[in-house]
Amino acid sequence: MPTALITGASAGLGDGFARALARDGHHLILTARRADRLEALAAELRTAHEVTVHVFAADLTRPEAAEGLLADIAAAGLSIDLLVNNAGYGARGDFATLGHDEQLGIIDLNCRALVALAHGVLPQMIARRSGGILNIASTAAFQPGPWMAVYYASKAFVLSFSEALHEEVRDKGVRVSALCPGPTRTEFADRAGMKDLTSFDAVWADADAVVRDGLAAVRANSPVKVSGTINTLMADSVRFLPRILARKVTGTIQKRRG
Ligand SMILES: NC(=O)c1ccc[n+]([C@@H]2O[C@H](COP(=O)([O-])OP(=O)(O)OC[C@H]3O[C@@H](n4cnc5c(N)ncnc54)[C@H](OP(=O)(O)O)[C@@H]3O)[C@@H](O)[C@H]2O)c1
Repeated sequence: MPTALITGASAGLGDGFARALARDGHHLILTARRADRLEALAAELRTAHEVTVHVFAADLTRPEAAEGLLADIAAAGLSIDLLVNNAGYGARGDFATLGHDEQLGIIDLNCRALVALAHGVLPQMIARRSGGILNIASTAAFQPGPWMAVYYASKAFVLSFSEALHEEVRDKGVRVSALCPGPTRTEFADRAGMKDLTSFDAVWADADAVVRDGLAAVRANSPVKVSGTINTLMADSVRFLPRILARKVTGTIQKRRG
């Protein structure tokens, strides 16, 4: 039975990936900061699916946290067949006045930790000529996002990095996919300060559908999967828009009213 490492498993999509992979018979390694939630999920999944579930709580914005996590996993004698690089957050508001640490933390978590984990697991996957990495990007990856500037840029990084890595390892038996969800019902919007946004009301997706798309993508080794028909149409159409129009429209959506 393969083993999956899922980051950000204490909520939202990560919780969904854990449930879906346990149902499919994967052993799990769960990480996030909220250990109590991870332990509760682990206990539930062990009982329901007869899989082993290991919990390693970590704050992946911390320097060397990703490397430390991989060292703890190796010390426990575990190896990783599937990495779901899911943990991430955003912050909405003026770049100039949002907090310094909050914004650099987005880069540390969404980009740095994601790269460090991929770099840590790849050599063994290449040696085994098997394994997969699913990086969670976003539809935010396809255009700049005024009033959520660092988050959008972080997801553009994830998308570009994932596509490049997909190409590098495709002949080495390792699958790499980027999943690009649009607005999805999780804790993300509350944390990002998007509560007052009504522009997405008609398009919120259920986490389960997004999780299904992500797992199907990495199984099929699709380099990029945009989740949902409307999101796919929008991501495709952005390519044909003048860049100025794409950023103006996104800025209009993201800007706080009043
Ligand atoms: N929901 C959306 O609308 C949407 C759309 C596109 C892309 N995405 C992407 O989907 C991914 C999952 O987000 P979600 O929607 O499931 O959000 P969520 O419900 O807020 O879950 C985020 C997860 O990341 C973990 N996390 C946050 N900060 C962390 C840190 N410093 N160290 C370790 N783990 C941390 C959280 O756990 P703890 O707080 O316990 O650490 C939580 O498990 C993210 O990469 C997000 O950017 C979401």
